[in-house]
Amino acid sequence: VTRLLQNGIAVHFTNICGEDETKQTNPEVFRAMESFEARSDDVILAGYPKSGTNWVGQILSDLVATFEKKRLEEKSVNDEELEEFPYLEIGDTEKYERMKKLPSRRVILTHLSPEKLPKSIFKNKAKILLLIRNPKDIATSFFHFSNAWSALPSYETWDDFFIAFMTEKMPWGSYFNYLSEWNKYAADENVMTITYEELKENQTLGVKNIASFFGISLTGEELRSVIERSSFQSMKENSLKTHGALGSMLFRKGGVSDWKNLFNEEQNEKMDKVFEERIARTKLGTKLKYEVYCK
Ligand code: A3P
Repeated sequence: VTRLLQNGIAVHFTNICGEDETKQTNPEVFRAMESFEARSDDVILAGYPKSGTNWVGQILSDLVATFEKKRLEEKSVNDEELEEFPYLEIGDTEKYERMKKLPSRRVILTHLSPEKLPKSIFKNKAKILLLIRNPKDIATSFFHFSNAWSALPSYETWDDFFIAFMTEKMPWGSYFNYLSEWNKYAADENVMTITYEELKENQTLGVKNIASFFGISLTGEELRSVIERSSFQSMKENSLKTHGALGSMLFRKGGVSDWKNLFNEEQNEKMDKVFEERIARTKLGTKLKYEVYCK
């Protein structure tokens, strides 16, 4: 279990998303997903693509693995060789049956907005960590990733991408819709929100808060190891092993404000306006500190 959880984010990434594009999600998978039964001890990470889901996914699986290992040792439970690609909506129609056999606690990632998620997640009170990132860096990261990875549409120019992003023609839908839909859940006691930027600013505090939200208690030494293993440098160095060919595309710069290299004045104004109209005065809008990170 430990090994699987530790590598859970990575192990099957290339199988699902690599050369064989037919293995990505489709309407049948979405229908099958309705049968997914959440558990109250599931560890769910919700994040729009490029918000740092691989980073925080690694933190979560490492926290859980370290914690569960201790628990399993105490109980001398046998290791089971079960694993599953961690993104809920990516896989095949049998995935949700197989997931029933996975031992607790399962770490599950999703790029979906809440209204598209299986109802049992909310009904069974699974805890959700919601990861958000400033929209300008999301767009920047998404642009580079789209052009690097052949499974996604590519764009001749940044300007073309910007139009697609703003007119909401994106895989997984519009980020502004995503933020307004998740905002409806931002005050729920089973939802904790964290921003990419705050985690970047103080990773130790962020990891401690995440662990405490999921009821995971680790020693200072164990926490330090989790933090070390999830540093950008360490994840980038291991990325070929963990994510195959996608590794070099996923772990690109790992910082804030790279948008300043792409956005022109007009694009800044357009995004500022949409953000102001739709998100700025919401709970998530405040949390994003737009004035600090996008001006
Ligand atoms: P950039 O393209 O701006 O570098 P996702 O995993 O959701 O696809 O998000 C990818 C983004 O998260 C990329 O942003 C990537 O570099 C960044 N990222 C990945 N691992 C990280 C880490 N350990 N620390 C900081 N950023 C990380």
